[in-house]
Amino acid sequence: MRTSLALRELVRENKVTADDLIMPYFVVETDDESFKKEISSMPGQYQLSLKQLERKVGEAVADGLKACILFGIPAEKDEVGSGAYDDAGIVQKAIRLLKDRWPELVVIADTCLCEYTSHGHCGLVKNDYVQNDPTLNLLAKAAVAQARAGADMVAPSDMMDGRVAAIREALDEEGFINTPIMSYAVKYASAFYGPFREAAESAPRFGDRKTYQMDPPNGREAMREAVADLEEGADILMVKPGLPYLDIVRQVRDNFDTPVAVYQVSGEYSMIKAAAQNGWIDEMGVIMESLVAFKRAGADLILTYFTEDVLKALK
Ligand code: PBG
Repeated sequence: MRTSLALRELVRENKVTADDLIMPYFVVETDDESFKKEISSMPGQYQLSLKQLERKVGEAVADGLKACILFGIPAEKDEVGSGAYDDAGIVQKAIRLLKDRWPELVVIADTCLCEYTSHGHCGLVKNDYVQNDPTLNLLAKAAVAQARAGADMVAPSDMMDGRVAAIREALDEEGFINTPIMSYAVKYASAFYGPFREAAESAPRFGDRKTYQMDPPNGREAMREAVADLEEGADILMVKPGLPYLDIVRQVRDNFDTPVAVYQVSGEYSMIKAAAQNGWIDEMGVIMESLVAFKRAGADLILTYFTEDVLKALK
């Protein structure tokens, strides 16, 4: 059954299509419309002004882009991450712009404080410790601001306990009963996020995220995280990072009936890029193999910085 491509395709169990892919974008609050800065640790990825975001998304939509997720880089950061829940915040502006231009594009908002706080942590900080409960209200406010701007879905990535319930309640109260929550339910404290923190300018100024993100050696605990988020009202469960955690993707798939998302994170992207730039691997071959591995492990949605390249390759 392997002797020809047509035969192999007939019996192929998994396939990656444009419908599966979500492209992350970094949008910067700036008056300089021409601002487009390559992220040095993520060749081919950029911090973009609103105008440049619009151009980039326009090209991707022409190639078949169905969904994107937005990260914001505010002009000013403060202790309480005000930019995250300001109606005039950069992500809220970007959502309005994209939904206005391409109403059919699924625009997802990453809901977190770390890009907006001066200390770079995902929640409020007191005595150098991230405060879980006082953070919930701010995350809920951020999700409401994103929904009000027109986001099709919110995606809390902060890993505070109870945030899905707080966000669901706040969205419902404000009338956003149809805004789903894609929860970063199973998010590990991973070294693979390194390049993202350059991209989003969100590296913690002190300490690390180990007191709120999951400990990489733990697998059973992932199921507890998933159950908690489902009970609180999560509609989609995400596992993150991707390739090093395929066992977790499979376990979440087998244990729950909700859609499962996986995030091929910045470090995974950069490793493939670096090896490809050295001529050590076949870039598109490795990309497609890694993405189909996510499908084989049971993922339905894939967040990947390779989305634009894959859309072109699929055409
Ligand atoms: C924000 C957030 C992070 C990523 C997605 N949302 C960074 C972090 O937790 O430090 C990482 C994405 C990537 O590495 O591509 N909390």
